Amino acid sequence: MNELERFKMQSAKEAVSHIKSGMVVGLGTGSTVKYALEFLGKMIRDGELKDIVGIPSSRETEKISIEQGIPLGDLKEYSEIDVTVDGADEVDNDLNLIKGGGGALLREKIIAQASKRNIIIVDETKITERLGTRFYLPVEVIPFGYGTEERFLKSIGAHVKLRLKEDSTPFETDQGNYILECNLGPIEDIEGLSNILDARAGIMAHGLFIGLATDVIVSGAGGIRHIKRS
Ligand code: A5P
Repeated sequence: MNELERFKMQSAKEAVSHIKSGMVVGLGTGSTVKYALEFLGKMIRDGELKDIVGIPSSRETEKISIEQGIPLGDLKEYSEIDVTVDGADEVDNDLNLIKGGGGALLREKIIAQASKRNIIIVDETKITERLGTRFYLPVEVIPFGYGTEERFLKSIGAHVKLRLKEDSTPFETDQGNYILECNLGPIEDIEGLSNILDARAGIMAHGLFIGLATDVIVSGAGGIRHIKRS
């Protein structure tokens, strides 16, 4: 296992230690969360955690959770989540995030908004002064509005790329939407941009997660840091 994977695994392990028996747990998506699902599954199978209900944020996470023996529910039955464990593509000093590299941003945001606590697990390469510096902003658009939303995003200064699959056809989210990868450079006014994107009818979700993370667990060469929103 390379160093980066080890860091991801350490963050995941630390996050899972905050899950207690009887909790409804939001399950994020991505390669870091995969480790958390493995730790959580093992603790459930070993009887260390009981009466856990997981709410998966993607089909991929649902599949891994079933393989790991994590009991699953949905937001109809469990409209409030005790704690969510999820990854991120970028984290700034105020614990704001860019998410959606895996294309699960809409469900992840719904889950984050339903959660009392959101623990974000990352390796140290994800930390940035300003969001947009290291990662593009994923924007999920309904295929019907793709052309016009692309045009709009370009008009606000974004370099836009439609996410494609290996066979060069558009990548589709679990909702059947497209992802536009928007490079805006370092974003100065994340709240202003978030409001502009939220106002567009064809944009189903964007990757700016502002004020949602309560905890960020970062692992790196210097060890594990647990940063809490004050
Ligand atoms: C999924 O859509 C994303 O929000 C992921 O949580 C994010 O891209 C982090 O993924 P990794 O842990 O694989 O870097």
